[in-house]
Amino acid sequence: MDPAVEANGKQGESQRYAVVTGANKGIGLETVRQLACHGVKVILTARDSSRGLKAVSSLHQMGLSSVVFHQLDVLDPLSVVSLANFIRENFGRLDILVNNAAASGVIVDEDGLRALNIDPASWLSGKVTNIIQDVIKHTYEKAEECLNTNYYGLRRVTEALLPLLQQSTSGAKIVNVSSLRSELRRIPSESTRNELGSAETLSEEKLDAVVKRFLHDFKENALEANGWSTMLPAYSISKAIVNAYTRVLARKYPEMCINCVHPGYVDTDLNWHTGSMTVEEGARGPVMCALLPRGGCTGCYFDQTQVADF
Ligand SMILES: NC(=O)c1ccc[n+]([C@@H]2O[C@H](COP(=O)([O-])OP(=O)(O)OC[C@H]3O[C@@H](n4cnc5c(N)ncnc54)[C@H](OP(=O)(O)O)[C@@H]3O)[C@@H](O)[C@H]2O)c1
Repeated sequence: MDPAVEANGKQGESQRYAVVTGANKGIGLETVRQLACHGVKVILTARDSSRGLKAVSSLHQMGLSSVVFHQLDVLDPLSVVSLANFIRENFGRLDILVNNAAASGVIVDEDGLRALNIDPASWLSGKVTNIIQDVIKHTYEKAEECLNTNYYGLRRVTEALLPLLQQSTSGAKIVNVSSLRSELRRIPSESTRNELGSAETLSEEKLDAVVKRFLHDFKENALEANGWSTMLPAYSISKAIVNAYTRVLARKYPEMCINCVHPGYVDTDLNWHTGSMTVEEGARGPVMCALLPRGGCTGCYFDQTQVADF
């Protein structure tokens, strides 16, 4: 066993173990803090070790000495295997997985965006697509990276950690941090809405096909014509797919609580600090889902702490 883990960890059946991805900053870091305050032993993960270790050290300085670090780049299969091995060797099981890491899928001129001074209500309505087109660039590479991170990376981490979650002694929880951009009503195409909204017939294969279709239309410059959302298109569809995947997983593992949650519009790097809520407020929904009682709701979408329509 890792000596640092042994020194920090209270072992035993009642101890809960959690992993949070993309936790060196923002909502992820705050989720780690709140879970640690609830007595959960949290593995804070980050793709960059120095940023991750700095974040762990900030929590240790607050007295949360049981938080441990492990490197995790959700795009790197070896890094995912290494995390799973670390958990197996040191804890033998996992109780909570918070899939929080995400990429925006765009390149932003941050000064230009700030100068536009868009108010939160307009931003959230999704009606600013035309105003922001000069400061937010969509490239195929960024769209691909976004889907690979937000959906395929999340799926890779989940699949690798599921065997450990199945060993949970307190009822495993998976929390997929989503976005209000995921909501089906925001997808103009009725057939895509129906496809992603039919919980009983969803499957990983169907989701792969949606990703493929989206990327094809992106390349052909045919997003609007084919009814994809034009406001942060790759990010929006990645989160809609994450929600659909959440329902696929919830059906497969009925003994677990597997949910997705929109954290709120939070002031972080991901939205170039346009958000109006604090990270403390933003982490409430993910933390609530992570701490649901055994037998709590599963296959649900939460808008912050309230169950909402997909
Ligand atoms: N902020 C909001 O208003 C808002 C609204 C709706 C949903 N969300 C969701 O909330 C979650 C957290 O976002 P945030 O707002 O807290 O943003 P953030 O502060 O930018 O955090 C994003 C995190 O993801 C990490 N990440 C990106 N690619 C990764 C990879 N390949 N492997 C591992 N980690 C990776 C980043 O690491 P680096 O530091 O190394 O880049 C960072 O730690 C995301 O799922 C986001 O979609 C946020």
